[in-house]
Amino acid sequence: MVNKILKARREKTHAECLFTERLSGSVKISGSKNAALSILAATLLTDEECVLENVPALDDVFVIFELLKRLGKEIMFSKNTAKIRGKAKHEDLPENLVRKLRASVLVMGPLLARRKKGSFAVPGGCALGERPIDIHLDGLRALGAEYKISQGRMVFGKRSLKGADIKLRFPSVGATENLLMAASGIPGKTVISNAAEEPEVHDLYLFLKAMGADISHVKNTYVISGKKRLAGCRFSVMPDRIEAGTFLLAAATVGGEVKVQNVIPGHLSSVTRALSATGAGVRIFSGGIKITAAARPEAADIETKSYPGFPTDLQPLWAVYMLKASGVSRIKENIFSGRFMYVDELKRLNAKMFLERDVLTVRPSRLSGASLLACDLRASAAMIIAGLASHGKTTVSDLSHLFRGYENFFKKLKLLGANVSIKGA
Ligand code: UD1
Repeated sequence: MVNKILKARREKTHAECLFTERLSGSVKISGSKNAALSILAATLLTDEECVLENVPALDDVFVIFELLKRLGKEIMFSKNTAKIRGKAKHEDLPENLVRKLRASVLVMGPLLARRKKGSFAVPGGCALGERPIDIHLDGLRALGAEYKISQGRMVFGKRSLKGADIKLRFPSVGATENLLMAASGIPGKTVISNAAEEPEVHDLYLFLKAMGADISHVKNTYVISGKKRLAGCRFSVMPDRIEAGTFLLAAATVGGEVKVQNVIPGHLSSVTRALSATGAGVRIFSGGIKITAAARPEAADIETKSYPGFPTDLQPLWAVYMLKASGVSRIKENIFSGRFMYVDELKRLNAKMFLERDVLTVRPSRLSGASLLACDLRASAAMIIAGLASHGKTTVSDLSHLFRGYENFFKKLKLLGANVSIKGA
């Protein structure tokens, strides 16, 4: 099944977008990519079967599947349900998979808790700029792990880990997840303070509790009493708030009225607040959000922050939205230094955007179609939506980024009335 999906995707190289008047109808949001990745990594904490529902069929998820298989797990995946069982027999992460997916570092915590040793390729840079893992490593060291770097790998010697008090210097999502998993599977009490509060971390916490972990959570502090063995369980992954935000912003940018279903509206409060400030109509209903685009949105400034602030992942989509605004707006990026890589590509559409360090100024622009090269996952979606709002034809190439993180993106857009098609070489 996975190979069939991957083959079909590899044959698609670029998207063609034509000007679209409006989007209308409803769209059902898939399971969260980022929550699924850490929850899949957490299955290493048990030898019993875990059944995960609402797992999106995405390339990043398939890389984690591959990694778990290489570590000794068996995986069956069908209709968004993954059954994972078996004991992790190996402890070394292959370099090619780690390089393909940064989130592979999430396997370190649970694997060290279970196998006590391991060697992991140093992840290296990525499209979002410098991405160190010092907070992950400081936390693992506080739990007693020791490693040396040799030939591009972090080699952890055999050591029994033990609970500790850890205060994160920054509430890193990945580091919080890694340490939550490690602490759940080792003896002793661990307190993680200044932890990330993103909903995906909370979903991992719920999964660990469903596995029998002894964890409590108050605001940004987790207290974990580790257990040697955790149990298998059945769990449904939370909806993808970033995909939901993408469709809200697609409708706001192109125009029209769209119901975004299967979301937890509270996860998107910062986004719906910002949309309302531009004059878009936002109505919350049970399990969803309905958006009615403003005829001419007002400009509104945003600044990316850790949850519950405005998510960095939606920043490129907000920038595209603001091209339609009646005035000048500013976007300040506080999380990832490389998140503005898309700006020069959008300028090919006549986007009036000016970048100064970490602040992007966006001016109202009449967009006209051009050929664009996608540079990262969220930027790919932003470029496609910009294409729908541009006069003439826009081509967006290198869809590999998009397939990493959006399930049935083109099908969903088309159902809403978007003039978009995907083509082979
Ligand atoms: C996760 C999400 C990503 C999202 C991001 C912020 C996954 C798979 N990815 O990424 O989509 O954009 O949260 O919400 O869940 N940092 C350090 N040292 C570290 C770790 C992080 O300096 O050890 C820095 C990073 O370089 C970045 C900031 O902290 O500037 C935030 O990173 P982090 O919260 O760790 O994001 P990820 O877990 O990588």
